[in-house]
Amino acid sequence: MIPATVPTDELLARHGRAVMQTYGAAEQVFVRGDGVALFDAEGRPYLDFLCGLAVTSLGHAHPAVTAAVAAQAATLVHTSNLYVTSPAVELAERLARITGWADARTFFANCGATANEAALKLARRHGKRQHPDKVRVVTLEGSFHGRTFATLEATGQAAKHAPFEPLLGVVDTVPFDDPAALRAAVGDDTCAVLLECVQGEGGVRPVPDEVLIAARAACDAHGALLIFDEVQTGIGRTGPWFAFQDTPVVPDVVTVAKALANGLPIGACVAHGPAATVLDRGEHASTFGGNPVVCAAANAVIDTIERDGLLVHAGRISEAIVSGISELAATVALVRGIRGRGLLLGVELASPVAAAVASACRDRFLLVNAVAPDVLRLAPPLIATEQDVALALAALREALDAVAATQGSAAPAPTGQENA
Ligand SMILES: Cc1ncc(COP(=O)(O)O)c(C=O)c1O
Repeated sequence: MIPATVPTDELLARHGRAVMQTYGAAEQVFVRGDGVALFDAEGRPYLDFLCGLAVTSLGHAHPAVTAAVAAQAATLVHTSNLYVTSPAVELAERLARITGWADARTFFANCGATANEAALKLARRHGKRQHPDKVRVVTLEGSFHGRTFATLEATGQAAKHAPFEPLLGVVDTVPFDDPAALRAAVGDDTCAVLLECVQGEGGVRPVPDEVLIAARAACDAHGALLIFDEVQTGIGRTGPWFAFQDTPVVPDVVTVAKALANGLPIGACVAHGPAATVLDRGEHASTFGGNPVVCAAANAVIDTIERDGLLVHAGRISEAIVSGISELAATVALVRGIRGRGLLLGVELASPVAAAVASACRDRFLLVNAVAPDVLRLAPPLIATEQDVALALAALREALDAVAATQGSAAPAPTGQENA
């Protein structure tokens, strides 16, 4: 085991040798987390306004999650899906309650991509029951759905496809804000439309309601399933439990992952209506799916959000951030405005320096990331306080000033992180 006192430089060098280098070059080590803070090896606290990419919504080491994990780990860690355990059943019932779908059924996966993979297989079975060729999927440009072969193809970002082509060849991608293009792309050979209500990795871009309405109508007209990828938006990130609950549209299937177990690996594909019973015995499986420890953590997450009124609290924190960034936009030339919903927010910059600003924020002990060359993502925990927001805004203002001062100088801009 690596002791927490291992020097940061040494650990980074060993990481470079022992771990496949598929992510952006890491420069930072953390050894501990507590609430909104992550601590480096020197014990310095960083205000975590990124939450491990919208994951640790209850903050780090939340006592309710820690207690649930410890109790379940001391009781029963794994059985396989040959047997039934109570935490998974209780979690599926909670998901039915918070989606508002009394007849919902859940398939448990291990992450966002595998939750989407389950949804895509479900959609294919649904399609093939109608016609052998009803296998195509429509997605939106700029979307992000994962890195497995099917979810990579569904991800509307050509640069991510290129090194792995040929892909399956069953996905049609349309602009994210064009209802007519979406309607035209959906046909009798479409088994599903898959989209995010707010594109997270695609730059914190809310998809217009007209596109969601067009997707629902096109799916209904052609016997296709509407799948909302709520991997990033779900569990209160954008306000309600699920982002779709703020829209005029109800999907057939939602996928959820990231924040569901506050950092333990989990994914869930939740379907209702006829979609809930499409997959038959033996048609999909996962060794770790429904693991008692991660499901116990997820049950504690949902209960804590309800008990502590965190959806309402997070709404107030969102308003504080939006008003703070709007003030910045009025006084700092580099800031154009803010977009997004709830606590999934994008600070729009006037030039493509988001990675440099994120780096300058880290120098000031604030963690955020560049989600587009000119958009900085803020995804603070639902437990953040107004005092945390004030500290974050002060650090952000300093970082913006520092980057503005170097603009036009020869200083090289740091590259963006490639983590999703
Ligand atoms: C909307 C969305 N879907 C799917 C994924 C993939 O999730 P994972 O990395 O857990 O496989 C992500 C990850 O960022 C995401 O934001």
